[in-house]
Amino acid sequence: MSITAVIPAEGLMSCWKSPSNIALIKYWGKHGQQLPRNASLSITLNQAYTVTRVRAVPSADPGNGPNLTFRFEGELQTAFATRIGEFLRSVTPWLEFLKDVDLSVETGNNFPHSAGIASSASGMSALALCLCSLDARIRGVEEEDPETFRKASFIARIGSGSACRSVYGGFTVWGEHTDVPGSSDEYAVPLENEYQSAFGVLHDSILIVDPGTKKVSSRAGHGLMNGHPYAALRFEEAGKNLSKLMKALESGDWDLFARITEHEALSLHAMMLTSDPWFVLMHPNTLRIIEEIKNFRKQTGAKVCFTLDAGPNIHLIYPAAELELVVPLLKSLEPFCHNGQQIHDTIGEGPVKLTCR
Ligand code: DP6
Repeated sequence: MSITAVIPAEGLMSCWKSPSNIALIKYWGKHGQQLPRNASLSITLNQAYTVTRVRAVPSADPGNGPNLTFRFEGELQTAFATRIGEFLRSVTPWLEFLKDVDLSVETGNNFPHSAGIASSASGMSALALCLCSLDARIRGVEEEDPETFRKASFIARIGSGSACRSVYGGFTVWGEHTDVPGSSDEYAVPLENEYQSAFGVLHDSILIVDPGTKKVSSRAGHGLMNGHPYAALRFEEAGKNLSKLMKALESGDWDLFARITEHEALSLHAMMLTSDPWFVLMHPNTLRIIEEIKNFRKQTGAKVCFTLDAGPNIHLIYPAAELELVVPLLKSLEPFCHNGQQIHDTIGEGPVKLTCR
């Protein structure tokens, strides 16, 4: 069927808002077309998100598309456009309409570029949701069907592995794992309700130690796991840690949750410390804050723990019920943050489809 039969001349539009996520069980190491070496588990955030609008119009040169115009925060961006163009070409086998359209993508984040928040997770998940919504409409199937979300997670993964987890709210798992029915290396799945509410609403206060760009790109970092002397053990341990974390969520065992979460964060950094070449991604203030958190927990018994991304910033994780207790800790950590910068977020319900304007 010709594309003009399914897309009107003025085009079809789709608009989604999608949040970032922070992994508690880390994805670090991949193979093939963005397949993980171990299963990972994350919480989807609430207030750090990307909004993306995609418009597809029938191409004057069908079969050779997509022709892309890309705007980031209102500006035409060639560097990003090249990456998005490559991504679009790589997902055309699953989104055939792309070959026959001109695509305009407009996107923007509600968090500063320098905040150390994973913008590829929110950005790629928002774009994948827009594309899969259009694809569903063109194929005449329900746009907000579970199948569309699953496909969006699959497509987001090809853009950036961790992005596939942002397609769902709450706790999500990406990667095949015996404890998670339906889990897959190709897309993420949300955890069942019994795991979602063990600690009430979880908070994530992001302590910005250094807002600078990453010392090592994710792609290069994952690559360093190939041939890493401890890789096999790390992948095995990640699977065991995921089982333990799920037990902690199910039973509401905070101490176990905190132990595993912190162990995972430090294991990720240990992998980079022992890579060839090695990378020290923590800052002196990262270590200082970690010690302060440990001491504070010992003194007060507060339910609070930390995780780290592949960088120096700290994610302080605690249940909403602990907020009052944690406020003085946050205040005392301000001097170790860049310009005292802290971003407060919580676990969220996942992406939202917006009305296009
Ligand atoms: C340390 O998803 O950014 O944040 O698949 O190459 O895009 P690519 O990597 P990316 O890696 C994220 C690594 C991590 C841990 C995690 O989010 O699980």
